[in-house]
Amino acid sequence: MTRRSVSILGATGSVGTSTLDLIERHPDRFEVVALTAARNVASLADAARRTNARLAVIDDEALLPELRERLAGSDCRAATGKEAMSEAAAGGADWVMAAIVGCAGLEPVMAAIRAGRTVALANKESLVTAGALMTEAAARSGAEILPVDSEHNAIFQCLAGNRSSDVAKLVLTASGGPFRTKSRDEMAAMTPEQAVAHPNWSMGAKISVDSATMMNKGLELIEAHHLFGLPSERIDILVHPQSVIHSMVEFVDGSVLAQLGSPDMRIPIAHTLAWPERMDTPAQRLDLAAIASLTFEAPDFERFPALKTARSALETGGSAPIALNAANEEAVSAFLQRRIGFLDIVGIVLETIAQTVAGRPRSIADVIDIDREARARATNLMREMAA
Ligand SMILES: NC(=O)c1ccc[n+]([C@@H]2O[C@H](COP(=O)([O-])OP(=O)(O)OC[C@H]3O[C@@H](n4cnc5c(N)ncnc54)[C@H](OP(=O)(O)O)[C@@H]3O)[C@@H](O)[C@H]2O)c1
Repeated sequence: MTRRSVSILGATGSVGTSTLDLIERHPDRFEVVALTAARNVASLADAARRTNARLAVIDDEALLPELRERLAGSDCRAATGKEAMSEAAAGGADWVMAAIVGCAGLEPVMAAIRAGRTVALANKESLVTAGALMTEAAARSGAEILPVDSEHNAIFQCLAGNRSSDVAKLVLTASGGPFRTKSRDEMAAMTPEQAVAHPNWSMGAKISVDSATMMNKGLELIEAHHLFGLPSERIDILVHPQSVIHSMVEFVDGSVLAQLGSPDMRIPIAHTLAWPERMDTPAQRLDLAAIASLTFEAPDFERFPALKTARSALETGGSAPIALNAANEEAVSAFLQRRIGFLDIVGIVLETIAQTVAGRPRSIADVIDIDREARARATNLMREMAA
């Protein structure tokens, strides 16, 4: 494999640090160009020094002097601001990991796509809000979008070598999250600490809460539609509590292909890092005899209304998925700050979508406007609830 130059957007998060872990195990294969973070200046500077990155970008402008100080004497330039974030995404590297959490990742991802980079996409919220615009831009620039989400990465692997016209349906597996067996009454009392304690995966706080509400699977449904071009009715969700089968593809002849692996994000990340080759990872090997049984359940749409809400937003299209994502980000953040209860999250999302005017974004600027308005609506709803 030729040496690949890489940049990591969201280098200090869960996906970002897993990516750094793999890169640092293979210094002969990778060269780091740029790393970014929101506020975690110490981890950003430390990673930039360890990897000899050329550019480190911090989103919070007030932290630029500290970043400069921490990088003094190194060859790494410290920067902040939108332009620097775009430079980190679009300048220099062949391969860009998009691992910023939330819609905040949209503009940097678009910069990387417009520049024709290979984009390893973890930031599902960007596809949920601007999927059609992103895939059109990638088709124009020649950018390759490689899915990092374990489910979509599994499907990507199962589709390799097959014709898309031979696909009957996609099956997204879901662990069911920490509240899989809880009643609605029990869920009402759940705390942020209980919601982020995922049984199988170690992840950032926002995606962990999304897994508890199962909104994560709803976002992934919309993500799968944009990545693989199938309509909602040909994308199923199947609860599989062991998280060993990461997703499946059913073909027209009745064959079903699945991708398996231990629940370690370094496996799908490594797949995108080395693609179209493979690289070794320190991830635990699967011991199916020890696991002994794999089980499956139909999703419970009554206890987890986020699934129906997301499917309906996908089918409505236009502004609905943008409002869904914006309200969810605001509500999850409020839940993590103990301002609303666990069950209020999806209630806020539903009400925000209901109050959103139907419309079709024609540009990223339109997406950002709809996102901003939906956040304001969700915030108002939460203020009214608290009054
Ligand atoms: N974690 C997983 O296993 C996993 C699996 C599949 C998909 N994903 C997806 O991958 C993305 C990242 O998830 P994560 O769990 O790694 O999140 P995380 O641990 O919360 O990390 C988020 C990263 O984004 C940065 N960031 C946050 N807000 C930002 C902003 N406004 N502008 C610029 N940078 C910002 C953070 O910087 P600071 O550290 O400075 O705050 C951090 O580097 C999400 O879209 C998630 O859905 C994650």
